[in-house]
Amino acid sequence: MPLPREYEGARLRRKDSGQEQLNLTRRKNRPRNSDLQTDEGNLMPITPTANIWMNGELVPWEDAKIHVLTHSLHYGMGVFEGIRAYETDAGPAVFRLTDHIRRLQDSAKVMLMELPYSVEELVEAVKVTVRDTGLPSCYIRPIAYFGYGEMGLNTIPCSVDVAIACWPWGAYLGDDAVTKGVRMKISSWTRHDPNIMPPTAKTTGNYVNSSLAKVEALKAGYDEAIMLNVQGWVSECTGENIFVGRGNVLLTPPTAAGALRGITQDSVIAIAKDFGFEVREEFLTRADLYTADEMFVCGTAAEVSAVNSVDDRPIPCPGPMTRAIAEEYGKAVRGKVDRYKDWLEYVNEH
Ligand SMILES: Cc1ncc(COP(=O)(O)O)c(C=O)c1O
Repeated sequence: MPLPREYEGARLRRKDSGQEQLNLTRRKNRPRNSDLQTDEGNLMPITPTANIWMNGELVPWEDAKIHVLTHSLHYGMGVFEGIRAYETDAGPAVFRLTDHIRRLQDSAKVMLMELPYSVEELVEAVKVTVRDTGLPSCYIRPIAYFGYGEMGLNTIPCSVDVAIACWPWGAYLGDDAVTKGVRMKISSWTRHDPNIMPPTAKTTGNYVNSSLAKVEALKAGYDEAIMLNVQGWVSECTGENIFVGRGNVLLTPPTAAGALRGITQDSVIAIAKDFGFEVREEFLTRADLYTADEMFVCGTAAEVSAVNSVDDRPIPCPGPMTRAIAEEYGKAVRGKVDRYKDWLEYVNEH
């Protein structure tokens, strides 16, 4: 959005000193948040596609803009989803689309935000948007937010806007995350308590906590952070759920430990049980992670990624359950496993 005309090229004299001048000329190149060192492997740039769905219509990518005084930009009260569409023999298929949109609606309900579209309408809108890109596979980001027009913390009079964007996006923790594994650090940041910021709602504001932990971990040379909750139990990562293997039992923290109810986590539990592995939701301590026989994290963006160490304690990687589950998950999302075909929602009629 352009600066107001009167700021273009303006130079203001500071009132207090009468000496220094502030140069408010428009900055052509927006600098990076540059003192934070990040290696190329951690960059996740956005590749534009043709259009973004906004409030019921497809608008050109470059015109999909919001006003700087949009309510949710100031107070973090947006709700969103991260979804993937995969290439299959019958064209792009969105993985567990309806489940993701239901979770979006649940997040909105927690925030007392009334979505102006039903689950069915948003499911259709996602399919329209994916189809419009012409991509065989993509990442999908629906977001609902309180729009422009009101300021202040009362959201009751705010409008609710909805947008859906899709773009091609690679593996979040790196292409070799399954084979080489990722290095984890227990964060110095504590996961939200359900009575502070409900972690089961996927709200934009919740990710302040995740982002603090993520950047801390990256700056310390790790790939990802693990969050403990207020009581000290293992909760989840900044954008993934956690599984620990002990013998041939898989343990994962319950949502009561402050984790998002992951759709990948749910899929992994189904796959693991179908393999005959025992799966238990259990509270875990950090030492349970250090002594794991194997460990992986999972989420829509990261898929199934093996963990090779936690706080520099090596963990055998990839473990046999991790390898089997990652492989099966990779096949399931691409429509190659009959048993899981109901998880796929095709974009084109077939
Ligand atoms: C904090 C957090 N936990 C877990 C997950 C995994 O959830 P899902 O598998 O539904 O993508 C995500 C990703 O959305 C997340 O952001």
